[in-house]
Amino acid sequence: MKYTTDFLVMGAGIAGMSFALKVADKGSVTLLSKSELYLTATHYAQGGIAGVMYRPDSWQKHIEDTMDAGAGLNNEKVVRFTIEEGTERIQELIDLGTHFDKKENGEFDLAREGGHSEKRVFHFKDQTGAEIQRALTKQVKAHPNITILENHFAIDLITEHHLGIEISRNSEKTCFGAYVVNPKTEKIDTYLAKITLIATGGSGNVYHTTTNPEIATGDGVAMVYRAKGSVEHMEFVQFHPTAFFEPDVKPAFLITEALRGAGAILKDIDGNEFMQKYDDRKSLAPRDIVARAIDNEMKMKGSDHVYLDVRHIDKETLLSHFPNIYDHCMERGIDITKDFIPVLPAAHYQCGGIKVNEFGQNNITNLYASGEVSSTGLHGANRLASNSLLEAVVFSHRAANNALEKVDAIDFKNEIPEWDDEGTVLNEEMILITQTQKELNQIMSSYVGIVRSNLRLKRALDRLEILYRETEDLYKKSIVTQEICELRNIINVAYLIIKMAKNRKESRGLHYSLDYPPQD
Ligand code: FAD
Ligand code: SIN
Repeated sequence: MKYTTDFLVMGAGIAGMSFALKVADKGSVTLLSKSELYLTATHYAQGGIAGVMYRPDSWQKHIEDTMDAGAGLNNEKVVRFTIEEGTERIQELIDLGTHFDKKENGEFDLAREGGHSEKRVFHFKDQTGAEIQRALTKQVKAHPNITILENHFAIDLITEHHLGIEISRNSEKTCFGAYVVNPKTEKIDTYLAKITLIATGGSGNVYHTTTNPEIATGDGVAMVYRAKGSVEHMEFVQFHPTAFFEPDVKPAFLITEALRGAGAILKDIDGNEFMQKYDDRKSLAPRDIVARAIDNEMKMKGSDHVYLDVRHIDKETLLSHFPNIYDHCMERGIDITKDFIPVLPAAHYQCGGIKVNEFGQNNITNLYASGEVSSTGLHGANRLASNSLLEAVVFSHRAANNALEKVDAIDFKNEIPEWDDEGTVLNEEMILITQTQKELNQIMSSYVGIVRSNLRLKRALDRLEILYRETEDLYKKSIVTQEICELRNIINVAYLIIKMAKNRKESRGLHYSLDYPPQD
């Protein structure tokens, strides 16, 4: 079937939903979610959203902290406007019905996280993302111009390529919509759109241990790369220092950095504090430093985790601010008021992605990207904690305003052909997909994790090539399913991470190579 929609929004997390709400008064919006609506990284966010509200904090301090974490690769102009506009965007979230915790005096109860010089993280207990997702979902469901399509998986962007016109990385190209799997008919529908926004989130499932939900398979980045659009900075993968240690459980449960902001202390497997050896800010140093320190301690002691000690924090504070973490640990026999919490680093956030300008536009005409899938210049080589929800609302707002100015002048490309699946058969051997996924995770976690080297990257690329060839072969012969597409996408993302890591001949931010010792 062929459908038309003024705005095609791929992704129903904070980035997709806040964009959808801003353009919906002007035209029809189709909002895609590849699973149920709630299953997003947004829903899982714990710590909160960073923003400046009260003195002694200031925009300038938040700008400096962001630039400091980003290790000199941030775009200063982007950092400045994101932080300055962020205060207004957070107020909009509040106006839309999002609740953030307040103190008895009525002021917001702002928290502190690693790399922040002030308390500036708006939060709702330790379930901030779920609260934001709840408030946005309510608004989106109530808007008459927004059609929500759950369990609809976008496969590929539609460009001139689908009209038989050759395109290249350097040629001009346009996005005319996307091909999408219809879960009822199991056929592929054509969605023609005037404007397309990619807000498909991150790619944590490239790695074995990740805090990301299963939807994070890098679909947006892979779609844009295949459509010959620009993608950058994929080597900067952020590992969160403290995921709950529970082997083979996916996703790994996050122990928010806000807990360290409230005084939690990292300890090695013997119960000794160690962060003073690595950074003056100790447990509250930026994430790259803390994750590398934990990785080093684990390697030196041969342990598969370290500990977080919160026993000295008042029980009332733990229960009122971190009820989700308290319950999660208690259900696993750990009383955090008395016991250490076992933790390890886990793949958490993709700092690079689809390259966009300050209005969220990619170099493919009429294509925008926002949220974790995008590379805006805000994060540089390492994201400051709680800056991603902020980035998503600021860039979705900017992209929406830009798209609203353009949409009337764009026509649907009605001559686009429908998907052709002639000659393909259903792949009935799921093992071919699941085993490849496991092998990929192993390669990436062993060779392309927190600490890299030229030799490790080469080894990873050599092994990935075999998985790539086998999977492309399977894809060409198979009827398209979500599973085969996700595998193909995640292999594509792994390739980009390795390739960009190989090209970066230095250690910077999240990319740390034994062959290039860090410079000051
Ligand atoms: P998501 O919220 O991940 O939404 C992606 C959407 O895209 C989903 O609806 C999905 O179904 C859809 N989608 C994906 N692929 C396709 C496809 N092919 N077809 C159709 N739909 C598709 N950041 C902070 O700033 N503060 C925090 O406290 C914080 N805590 C975090 C805690 C955890 C455990 C995790 C995992 C992340 C955390 N982050 C935090 C990061 C932050 O949550 C994410 O970066 C942010 O929510 C991403 O939002 P998004 O809208 O870009 O993507
Ligand atoms: C956390 O709560 O520690 C996660 C914050 C983030 O990823 O920004």
